[in-house]
Amino acid sequence: MKRSNILFIDDQQSARDMFLRLLDPQKYKSIVASGVAAAEEHLRHEAADVVVTDLRMPDIDGLEGLERLHAADPELPVVLITAFGTVETAVEAMKRGAFDFLRKPFDPAELEIVIDRAIAHRQLLRENQRLRSEVARRAATADIICAAPAMSAVMDLIARVAPSDFSVLMLGESGTGKDVFAQRIHQLSSRAQQSFVSINCSAIPEHLLESELFGHEKGAFSGANQAREGFFAEADGGTLFLDEIGDMSLALQPKLLRVLQNGEFYRVGSRRLSKTDVRLVCASNRAIESLVERGQFRQDLYYRINTVRIDLPPLRERTEDIPALVAHFLQRLAAHHPRVPSSVSPTALARLLEYPWPGNVRELEHVIERASLVCDGDTIYPESLPRELRGTASSVPGAMGTVDKVFKDARRDFEFGYFVHLLDRAGHNVQKAADLAGLHRSTLYEKLAALGVPYDHEGGAAGH
Ligand SMILES: Nc1ncnc2c1ncn2[C@@H]1O[C@H](COP(=O)(O)OP(=O)(O)OP(=O)(O)O)[C@@H](O)[C@H]1O
Ligand SMILES: [Mg+2]
Repeated sequence: MKRSNILFIDDQQSARDMFLRLLDPQKYKSIVASGVAAAEEHLRHEAADVVVTDLRMPDIDGLEGLERLHAADPELPVVLITAFGTVETAVEAMKRGAFDFLRKPFDPAELEIVIDRAIAHRQLLRENQRLRSEVARRAATADIICAAPAMSAVMDLIARVAPSDFSVLMLGESGTGKDVFAQRIHQLSSRAQQSFVSINCSAIPEHLLESELFGHEKGAFSGANQAREGFFAEADGGTLFLDEIGDMSLALQPKLLRVLQNGEFYRVGSRRLSKTDVRLVCASNRAIESLVERGQFRQDLYYRINTVRIDLPPLRERTEDIPALVAHFLQRLAAHHPRVPSSVSPTALARLLEYPWPGNVRELEHVIERASLVCDGDTIYPESLPRELRGTASSVPGAMGTVDKVFKDARRDFEFGYFVHLLDRAGHNVQKAADLAGLHRSTLYEKLAALGVPYDHEGGAAGH
């Protein structure tokens, strides 16, 4: 078993000698320091599991020592040893975050119990932290669909750059998931417990963007009735997501560059330099390079924000994601609404796979939401899709390039689509569908079975 490191701080040599002999050397490694400064020096080289410190010491007393040790490591358990009569100070110490205190003279067994509790406590904290980041990681992955090979390279890159502090530039058409992936980068980074602040540069009027980013002093401009912190201050220690960075004005760009270079900025109306530590993720749906070429975006800033570049492919180039995304959206809807369809018919899916999705994942999300509202069965058929997606009955799986097919296959495709539409129109009532089509009910059943068209075996629209 690994020994625990216990660091004792006491200004008196005799006390230090005593500490060195106090604990079982099989279980603990006892280290002594003559004061807080010496302890800090030691901790730079070797971590301690618990610190035990005398409260009254000439140079820096135990209380101040506690603060200094916690400044370096807020979770380091510190046990204070007090002489009789200083209990108030010990209570104060507990309030300030000491793990526990012992009154002199103490029993070595008592000390050992306190130390063991402190060690267990610290382990729990660590375990808790690990679980919390694990939960954050799971939450971050749970909502992101990535089934297409084109996306696994993107996900790999994100997992690799997330833990670093590199600036990331994300490029992709509208609705490809730039927001989603910017958040993912934050959640996978060491800054995950800090804030994630997101701003859309194109949504904020040009003259306000500077004060939104950097904050302002009271009276800095008309309307600035109160001093305000900006997003750079708010995101300190965390991640700042600048969406539509290509829309930032040329006048503001040098100010952004400076804060990226040395973490320094001025609030609007202030001459005092402020400091911040942010990780920057930028996004744009415009070709930034051409903005640089046209002199609308500073080249030096472009290099700065572009340390790592991630191109999100449009949805039409990763159609493998479509079925998974559809299932994901339906599931999410079902969690909040009653009577949400649970699947998409093969015909409808074929339409979804063919469509070029100019609005990418967002458009798909809206189409599915809308379809699940209009559709009153358990399956979404093409009828429930928007007009531009509905197409013709020939658009069944494999119907692309119908003319190249043998007649038999083409007819099968046609019939499949025809019967799916028919059933949908008849509210999934087979008798009604048979009447509409001018077929005998048993003929229709045979057809449906032969083609593999799903139908309601009760023959009615029950349950929908
Ligand atoms: N891989 C994905 N898995 C699940 N949902 C996704 C995925 N990608 C995008 N979405 C969803 O699609 C919608 C659009 O995504 P997002 O807002 O991230 O796109 P964007 O690229 O930032 O768009 P814009 O350029 O318009 O700002 C969101 O509702 C998001 O939840
Ligand atoms: Mg966005």
